[in-house]
Amino acid sequence: MQPTLNAAVSVTELGVDFGNFKAVNQVSFSVAPGEIFGFLGANGAGKTTTIRVLCGLLIPTRGTVTVAGIPYLSEESADRIKEKVGYMSQKFTLYNDLTVAENLNFTASLRKLERTYYLKRKKELFDFITFDKPESTMVKDLPGGMKQQVSLAASMLHNPEIIFLDEPTAGVTSAAREKFWSLIKSLAKNGKTIFVTSHYMDEVEQCDRIALMRSGELIALDSPKGLKESTFPHPLYELTPKRKIPYSEIEALRSPDYFDSFQAYGLRFHASPRTAQSWNEFLMRYSEDFDSQIIQPTLEDVFIRLVEGQNR
Ligand SMILES: Nc1ncnc2c1ncn2[C@@H]1O[C@H](COP(=O)(O)OP(=O)(O)OP(=O)(O)O)[C@@H](O)[C@H]1O
Ligand SMILES: [Mg+2]
Repeated sequence: MQPTLNAAVSVTELGVDFGNFKAVNQVSFSVAPGEIFGFLGANGAGKTTTIRVLCGLLIPTRGTVTVAGIPYLSEESADRIKEKVGYMSQKFTLYNDLTVAENLNFTASLRKLERTYYLKRKKELFDFITFDKPESTMVKDLPGGMKQQVSLAASMLHNPEIIFLDEPTAGVTSAAREKFWSLIKSLAKNGKTIFVTSHYMDEVEQCDRIALMRSGELIALDSPKGLKESTFPHPLYELTPKRKIPYSEIEALRSPDYFDSFQAYGLRFHASPRTAQSWNEFLMRYSEDFDSQIIQPTLEDVFIRLVEGQNR
């Protein structure tokens, strides 16, 4: 695969090794300017490692990487990439024991921003996130959601083209998550490229496309709708037991005689019949035991099937 022209991010056969361990392996994709690109995968799938490469922080072991039109070839190109990208890291957002103003001043000085530009940009960003507390507030006294928004502002002080957000809403309230996503959408509408990881399916649903990682490899890449359609080409049913079904019978249903996938959801099951005939056979045998209704697959169904269930 050739690097995609004019892409915000283009990655071809990316590999990152830590010793003998392949944390990222043979990963290829590109992200269009202005796209909201979601990165999904279980813990340890290689999401943060890929982001560190794309931010110019980690030299890849193999493959070709181009970010904001700059090929990642050397330390010098990494420095140029860093000027074009903003990064809100998974673990660290802001210094708790500094004020909001001190945090932003510190970021501005690391970025060597000119003072007039910095002050103008800070005001723009405070307006954008509707920050209404004194700048002298200690970061540790901010509510979690507001801390994440100030952190987003800090990552954008130098007006980057591409913004990497690694689990930006982990642990904040659902109202704060909603506000954060309205900010993300408005940034994308104004031409910024957003690269975001999240474990919240309702958030990932709002991405233009989603890349699904498993054990360092990219196993699917499509729009939320496309992922659902390709993962569940046949109807998906929700089965509700009418009696207590013994474990051995559930295991029998998991065998591929009837279903391509059969997953427990609390006390119910989501099941995708192998064929129309296998569904009829199931009904003939089990219609006394289960109520059934067709449901639309969610991204959670997709994730469980592709990442956790692996065709079970
Ligand atoms: N510097 C390192 N040295 C050795 N192994 C590492 C290093 N950084 C990451 N790893 C390993 O690489 C794998 C991928 O880690 P990574 O942090 O990219 O996963 P992730 O998809 O971001 O997971 P999470 O959802 O938990 O954030 C993990 O097994 C991790 O332990
Ligand atoms: Mg991570």
